[in-house]
Amino acid sequence: MIIVMKKGATKEDVHSVEERIREWGYSAHTIYGAERTVVGAVGVPEADKARYMESLEAMPCVEKVIAILRPYKFASREYHPEGTVVDVNGIPVGGKQVVIMAGPCTVETYEQTWESAVACHAAGATILRGGAYKPSTSPYSFQGHGEEGLKILRDVADKLGMRVVTEVMDPRNVELVCRYADILQIGTRNMQNYDLLREVGRVRTPVLLKRGMWARIEEWMQAAEYILVGGNPNVILCERGIRTFETHTRNTLDLSAVPAVKELSHLPIIVDPSQGTGKRSLVEAMSKAAIAAGADGLLIEVHPHPDQALKDGAQSLTCEGFCNLMRNLRPVVEAVGRTL
Ligand code: E4P
Ligand code: PEP
Repeated sequence: MIIVMKKGATKEDVHSVEERIREWGYSAHTIYGAERTVVGAVGVPEADKARYMESLEAMPCVEKVIAILRPYKFASREYHPEGTVVDVNGIPVGGKQVVIMAGPCTVETYEQTWESAVACHAAGATILRGGAYKPSTSPYSFQGHGEEGLKILRDVADKLGMRVVTEVMDPRNVELVCRYADILQIGTRNMQNYDLLREVGRVRTPVLLKRGMWARIEEWMQAAEYILVGGNPNVILCERGIRTFETHTRNTLDLSAVPAVKELSHLPIIVDPSQGTGKRSLVEAMSKAAIAAGADGLLIEVHPHPDQALKDGAQSLTCEGFCNLMRNLRPVVEAVGRTL
């Protein structure tokens, strides 16, 4: 249930609504938007809704009360009609500017990370990606350098004035990864790891929530809801492809999810065409398509020597390939009225 405050409602008015909700034993979450303020009431049982709605609607400072029937409330567009812009330590995600997150799949060495980052930065990426904790299908494949990898990422990014996005897999590591990262990435395999979602909901570091490779959009939105209801409003979604019967590509990149999510939710959404295709040759075309579909940014894997990569070499662009992609992306970005 969301309560839309009248234009010009004061802080005291908002507090009076919040207090009424709390007196009934439910929790209230308020968003102060540029246009209007809305208060969300969480936990109200279906049977009591009509009664409470009537009572709130009678308050002179309330414009209207809307019952949200979806299983996610704070992630919904109804709750926050304007698009949310997540501030990544000075870099807005979800605004007019398309944000490019790029770098190696995996932090292998300092030199490899540096070489990739320098090329990505020179071509226009502002956020450095790289895995220090790697989710791997096989226990025998590389698992990442852990904290050593985080240190490399932070050092390289700081030298270039970039931000860092990196995956956290274990709820016990959230605090540690927060010390090094500007964005906590929740990978596809952990989209429904509820303990992890609850843990990243407790901090304020932005979270990049990847879509589970098996997940329906509604399940993905509910995963985002875990983080939002936990108290962290800084959620960025990432479409990275889903499993279908098609095996030509590693995953099927569901670009229809981008405009669909824009209708359903106020959260920014970016696209990962590297995981989405698994093939270097397809990354540029799908990057352009993602921006045309309305994505707020891209997450792209770049390796100075992809043939020697410890992980995901087949989908990693060379530094030169990334530079070409960025050049060719610009007209598409401008055609949809955005900036790069
Ligand atoms: C991402 O970088 C993952 O760690 C990687 O794609 C996993 O690949 P795997 O499933 O072959 O281990
Ligand atoms: C990644 O981007 O490093 C990654 C592991 O991706 P995904 O979770 O989408 O497979």
